[in-house]
Amino acid sequence: MKLAVIPGDGIGPEVVAEGLKVLTGVIPQVEISTYDLGASRWHRTGELLPDSVLRELRGHDAILLGAVGDPTVPAGILERGLLLRIRFELDHHVNLRPARLYPGVTGPLAGDQSIDLVVVREGTEGPYAGAGGLLRKDSPHEIATEVSVNTYFGVERVVRNAFERANRRARKHLTLVHKTNVLAYSGQLWSRVVEEVSMEYPDVAVAYCHIDAAMIYLVTDPGRFDVIVTDNLFGDIITDLAAAVSGGIGLAASGNLDVSRTNPSMFEPVHGSAPDIAGTGTADPTATVLSIALLLDHLGMPDSARRVEAAIAFDLATRQPGSVGRTQAVGDRLAALASS
Ligand code: NAD
Ligand code: IPM
Ligand code: MN
Repeated sequence: MKLAVIPGDGIGPEVVAEGLKVLTGVIPQVEISTYDLGASRWHRTGELLPDSVLRELRGHDAILLGAVGDPTVPAGILERGLLLRIRFELDHHVNLRPARLYPGVTGPLAGDQSIDLVVVREGTEGPYAGAGGLLRKDSPHEIATEVSVNTYFGVERVVRNAFERANRRARKHLTLVHKTNVLAYSGQLWSRVVEEVSMEYPDVAVAYCHIDAAMIYLVTDPGRFDVIVTDNLFGDIITDLAAAVSGGIGLAASGNLDVSRTNPSMFEPVHGSAPDIAGTGTADPTATVLSIALLLDHLGMPDSARRVEAAIAFDLATRQPGSVGRTQAVGDRLAALASS
């Protein structure tokens, strides 16, 4: 396996180091190339993602990313110029973000909640497309627009992928989350495509939820969700809340998938560079390790993926309060469990 690794900024390198411990313990024959991209390169050279690096990334089987973003760099430079550019250039149209409350993990919700859902977030369109601009800049009449781009092609392929996933799951349930009562045009397109594709998946039950109400149910009744399909921005927000209710952002994994497999897919924790705890050795690397399980599944190594997941499940069920908040201790334990 040829793996490109982008440790990135803040806690990125800290959690990636632990992830690689686990990966190389399970699959010894990984060929790793590490790419120095992020805040320090930008400060040093002004570069974000040189074309030559992008070309090299394409030559790998997969990419593992820690996180990007740094308080010393204006907001958006690294996020758009590096992370989003990779997602767009490599056509990562399915942003897969499972959320599960593992046995032994105490979530913040009242009662005995069961959470086992997967958010299929569109990854290359919506308000992230970069369409829009500033008119009459620096005047009292300034106007900022941010246009959400939703193409039939882009919506159909992510909706289809969500239906395929729902059809393979026990509950076979899919919820479209949107804001069709306000976002008239994109709402129509998403609803119509879901209705159309649903004809091909008669066993999948379909529900619809406005984004605001979905946030209520995620907290009061998360068990109602199985597969959620949604646009890029709603999916970003939903998955931080889904992480928070299922044990915390330190456990939330993601895969940025090019389902056509033309380009390598990229796996990363849902969280960011967490500058508030960077360098303290307290970041939870579990989200990165769980992202490695997604990577192994994507590359057709389900047995190894299950071993990594089982290690995480065992660790979470038996975690001593003292070991939480020690990045290396968690990584060592997961690596030992996964390779034993
Ligand atoms: P964040 O996810 O970095 O942090 C939010 C909170 O969660 C912080 O309190 C942080 O300490 C905590 N946290 C995050 N990861 C954790 C972990 N593994 N273990 C324990 N606690 C953890 O979000 P933010 O503070 O809004 O963003 C910080 C920077 O990261 C910004 O520059 C932002 O743009 C960037 N960002 C990058 C990505 C990415 O690279 N995929 C994702 C989100 C945010
Ligand atoms: C995430 C992040 C990114 C996003 C940012 C950093 C561009 O929040 O991966 O969830 O919005 O997709
Ligand atoms: Mn996010």
